[in-house]
Amino acid sequence: MQFSAVGAPAMPAGHLFYGGDYNPEQWPREVWDEDVRLMREAGVNLVTVGIFAWAHLEPTEGRFEFGWLREVLDLLGEAGIGVDLATPTAAPPPWLTTRYPDVLPVDERGSRYSHGSRQHFCICNPAYRSLARRIVERVAAELGSHQALRMWHAHNEYACHVPYCYCDHHARAFRSWLERRYGSVQALNDAWGSAFWSQRYSDFAEVMPPRMTPTFANPSQLLDYKRFTSEAFLEEFLEEKQVLKAARPDIPLTTNFMGFLKALDYFAWARELDVVSTDNYPDPADPRSAALSAMHYDLIRSLNKNVPWIVMEQTTSRVNWREHNVPKSPGQMRALSYQALARGASGVLFFQWRASRSGAEKFHSALVSHSGQASPVWAEVTQLGRELAGPEPWATAKVRADAAVVFSWANWWAVESSSSPAHDLKMQDQLAWMYLPLYRRSVTLDFASPAEPLQPYQALLVPSLYLVTEDEAANIRSYVEQGGTAVISFWSGIVDSRDRVYLGPYGGPLRPLIGCDILDVAPLAPADVVEVEWEDGTKTSATFWLDIAAEPQGQQGKVLARVTSGPWAGTPVVTASQYGKGSVYYIGSRLDHDGLQRVYDLVPALRPGPTDFGSRLTDGVERVVRRSPDHDYEFVINHTDNDRKVLLATPGYDVLGERPADGTLPLGRRGVAVVRHG
Ligand code: GLA
Repeated sequence: MQFSAVGAPAMPAGHLFYGGDYNPEQWPREVWDEDVRLMREAGVNLVTVGIFAWAHLEPTEGRFEFGWLREVLDLLGEAGIGVDLATPTAAPPPWLTTRYPDVLPVDERGSRYSHGSRQHFCICNPAYRSLARRIVERVAAELGSHQALRMWHAHNEYACHVPYCYCDHHARAFRSWLERRYGSVQALNDAWGSAFWSQRYSDFAEVMPPRMTPTFANPSQLLDYKRFTSEAFLEEFLEEKQVLKAARPDIPLTTNFMGFLKALDYFAWARELDVVSTDNYPDPADPRSAALSAMHYDLIRSLNKNVPWIVMEQTTSRVNWREHNVPKSPGQMRALSYQALARGASGVLFFQWRASRSGAEKFHSALVSHSGQASPVWAEVTQLGRELAGPEPWATAKVRADAAVVFSWANWWAVESSSSPAHDLKMQDQLAWMYLPLYRRSVTLDFASPAEPLQPYQALLVPSLYLVTEDEAANIRSYVEQGGTAVISFWSGIVDSRDRVYLGPYGGPLRPLIGCDILDVAPLAPADVVEVEWEDGTKTSATFWLDIAAEPQGQQGKVLARVTSGPWAGTPVVTASQYGKGSVYYIGSRLDHDGLQRVYDLVPALRPGPTDFGSRLTDGVERVVRRSPDHDYEFVINHTDNDRKVLLATPGYDVLGERPADGTLPLGRRGVAVVRHG
């Protein structure tokens, strides 16, 4: 059975979830019957219900109306459609904010948000917390034993629109958190380096959340504020979890993540989930969208490596919230759905079932469009629903990555700090720089926290791990010492957990791994392109940043490439070194594609390996393998609007086409094939 981490089978073995957010409260009763009929036609087997229904479940304070929602669940249950029952806490009703106006969050300038959209609450507000708890308790008590229930869903996209609040409640909670963390105001002063700009505190009561300041706020304060906020949201989530699990412990529980959401440390959050789920809205107008979407899914798969994951939301075609909302092209929704499945998802769902008639998202695509079944989207979603009706032989097969990208939220928060020598050094750019060339090579990557066991991987990519604790660095060092390979980029090992610089040549506790001494750094002017020359005379280039590195001494590394133009000509820019039984490649600049490939070529786990079956792909085709004890399933996905071919070196069986596959496998525009090997 799937999702066996918890008691009740959410779905029979080999079956995938397919469905979406269902908001029946937006529609008259008679539409519900049609909804259920159409859901069956579309192959929908799971819908998320109740997500923004607080005002309908508790129309005035303390008066509850659950009859309508029970009726919805009855209809769904009778039709064999499972329910992912959500708590409605992401959108407090107007009575709540009218009666308790200080629930509304405050921005850094002290302006209070108003009611009128959603996510308008301060997570630390006591009134919000007790009213949220009460509605969650009612949801659990009223519907927790309903036979249609398959999954609990807490809240919606925690910290999505208002990640940071600066109100007095938040300030009080922040101070208590600091007192617990540091114990004394002296320790706080020490941690925050408050000797700078006369920021020395004499009492915790003087500490503020980082409200608007004349110029840059204290970076250690900002970092702690981010840590605190992620934990404050988590605390509320855990309260919801406790209530829901007390009512039905056998039902798996999730909350929908948002991929690379900066505000929440999803590694910490994912430990609390039975199913990790995510909302993914790649921009069809961005040529890198398929690659970035792959990176999103690899992150999600990696957050908790012991539980299944699903796509909780994607769009059938357009969103409404970009400046200019380009639709998915025909077939793209299916191709991107298979991308998630190829990367290990146990289901794909959408926002939302039926396109709204009113409201802020009425022009967001849905499974049922304004034009109903006449819409081409309907044909696509019903086709995909039929295809995924399962059981799928590959649904329980695993994605296995031999290499991982080391990533942490604390580092993300710190590395983008305003005290950085390059404010335009963005973590996601660094990730994309190292990840995308490997995506194009069909090398599947996991993400790994620097604190987790790293031994399962043959190679690690370490993009700008600016903040690294002593323990994390020891973990990475011991990984290499025991035979692992690390590719470490510039601006790594710079500060400790408090954002205090490790003195000496840069690298701090990672220095033993770095093949040379980094004496200073030089962010390059935007137009600067420096020449990089390799040992064999090959020339590539680099941009953005340059470490000013000394010539390696004694047992330090071997220089593989140097900068040969500009004021720092002669500086080592790529070094190779040995540490214990392992190896390290250090990269001191943003190498261009060819330069980076030269480093990757030196690392066996970063080259297409035996499990790629020797298939030759053309541009725009993605390949990922899911492996089961008996078979390997090679997913090939054409992300272009043109026909593509895959040349198969190893014959297999085309699972979707139900025929043997060898030689040339044609893929039409946005086409997908799943080739079974073994
Ligand atoms: C998010 C939310 C949904 C909806 C969609 C629109 O994922 O969770 O409620 O607003 O975005 O794309």
